[in-house]
Amino acid sequence: MRRRIKSCCSPSCRPPAGRRGLPVLLAALVLLSGCGGRKDDSLRIGTALYTQDDTFISTVAQNLEWMVREAESGTGNKITLFTADGKSSQSTQMDQVDRFLARGCDVLFVNLVDRTAAAVIADKAEAEGVPLIFFNRQPVAEDIQRWERIYYVGADARESGELQGKLVLDAWRADRETLDRSGDGILQYVMLEGEPGHQDSLLRTEYAVKAVTDGGVEVEKLANETANWNRAQAAARTAQWLEEFGEGIEVIFANNDDMALGAIDALADTPRDRWPLIVGVDATAPALEAVAAGQLYGTVHNDGRGQAQAMMDLALALWEGEEPAVELVEGHYIWLPYRAVTRENLEEFLEQ
Ligand code: GAL
Repeated sequence: MRRRIKSCCSPSCRPPAGRRGLPVLLAALVLLSGCGGRKDDSLRIGTALYTQDDTFISTVAQNLEWMVREAESGTGNKITLFTADGKSSQSTQMDQVDRFLARGCDVLFVNLVDRTAAAVIADKAEAEGVPLIFFNRQPVAEDIQRWERIYYVGADARESGELQGKLVLDAWRADRETLDRSGDGILQYVMLEGEPGHQDSLLRTEYAVKAVTDGGVEVEKLANETANWNRAQAAARTAQWLEEFGEGIEVIFANNDDMALGAIDALADTPRDRWPLIVGVDATAPALEAVAAGQLYGTVHNDGRGQAQAMMDLALALWEGEEPAVELVEGHYIWLPYRAVTRENLEEFLEQ
């Protein structure tokens, strides 16, 4: 017999907040009916996005929609996906989580606005016995370990930094003359950083540069600044740096593709043979086009579809009361690999 994720003994057997106060008789009937099988064929998932205004996050959200339709087809199950836009406000997101729980959602997918708010959300979910899958914005380990039904689906930020740095190192080794425009044997770079405090900003910044220096290349940082994952902000920062350093910039590292595209926007009036080498992360559709056009040297594929698939598979397994098909690292984590993308292997990613 299929089991629901919520066990009889858990507080989740309580009706959602809005419906508390049901007559005792009804509550007794619910208990007698046994909690041993699914309540019905309807799975309700609440998805809280830090903002819908983020290219990569909107691709994850879109993939979730597709996967829901796929998971429904032919099974007789009804899956409802509620999606809420946190608009970069943690208090807005808290209200959205409260509403999902009050509506009786069976599973929550949470893309935190503020990573330090994880504990509060974890405690709310545990109190209602509702499994919680964080994604993309990684809480600290202690918050994930607060309850056995808290999970994180994402990709290893350090790996993306290393792959990005390796792209630059390979370019240096393949054609040092072109890259080292000043001819001083040192790689002069600027760094466009994502949101401060985000694991991907911190670790991509650190490990991209480390991969280059570990490869034996000396580097000089001309400037670094946050552009908050944002194309327009990155264009503004790059325009300033171009005024300040001109052709002294040999490489532009961007923590994501939107910012790399912003750097490209700022270079629109500069003849192409005077451009620095630019690298991003995500492999979004416009970034792949920029790789095809030779504007972006390379990027690192952030597997949004794989992440959405892993979240759906985990949610379904929890709902069915089955063991998830994929092995959970330390009982809580699912990691999707990153992959480097250049013109050489671009076709593979365009097909996706
Ligand atoms: C990163 C991604 C960025 C941005 C950020 C939001 O993984 O590379 O483009 O979407 O997540 O948290």
